[in-house]
Amino acid sequence: MNTEVINLYQGLKLMFIKSICFFISTMVVALTFTSPVLAHHKPWHKMDPSKEALVKSGKKIYMKNCAVCHGRNLEGQANWRQRNPDGTLPAPPQDETGHTWHHGSEMLFGVVKNGGPSTANHKSMMPPFKGVLSDQDIWDVLTFIKSRWPQHVQNRHDMISEKSHRYMQDRHMKNMKTNHGHKHKN
Ligand code: HEC
Repeated sequence: MNTEVINLYQGLKLMFIKSICFFISTMVVALTFTSPVLAHHKPWHKMDPSKEALVKSGKKIYMKNCAVCHGRNLEGQANWRQRNPDGTLPAPPQDETGHTWHHGSEMLFGVVKNGGPSTANHKSMMPPFKGVLSDQDIWDVLTFIKSRWPQHVQNRHDMISEKSHRYMQDRHMKNMKTNHGHKHKN
């Protein structure tokens, strides 16, 4: 082969490589901004009622584990705002008339996994489901509950979840900074 042909060949090869690189970087940028897979790494998107399979699985889990207290129609126990004679609270509704939707998705996950928080003045009757339900089961049942809220309440819940996620992240960062400071002092 003479040098001219070789140069032409090299030039074409370079062009080919360049266009591949351009293609790959375009794909990376496009995926980063649009990929729903990446969006689902955000914890508040784990309660996504548009995923019918999760809602279906969550309904089964709910009827088996939660309906006995929270009601088959998510209606809760009668007079749920009034304390029982022993000071405990009845199970609240899980539909939009309750206050479940006022709490971010990660907090709800924690309540179902670890049980309701008890204090010196309050004994929670909400049992922990750790060891009974897998993490995915818990997200499924919460997704089922969310699927029963009207669309505008679902939207509000997305906003609340995102906000409280950011708040917890900020607090985590502040804690890390404080702990770091302590380390240096000692
Ligand atoms: C033995 C009865 C009982 C069962 C079973 C039960 N719960 Fe509860 N749950 C309660 C009570 C009572 C509360 C109120 C918490 C308190 O008193 O601190 C509660 C609170 C909650 C809350 C917090 C609501 C809020 O507004 O803060 C969520 C979420 C919840 N339950 C989900 C579930 C799910 C999901 C299941 C099934 C996997 C379940 N519960 C099973 C009794 C129960």
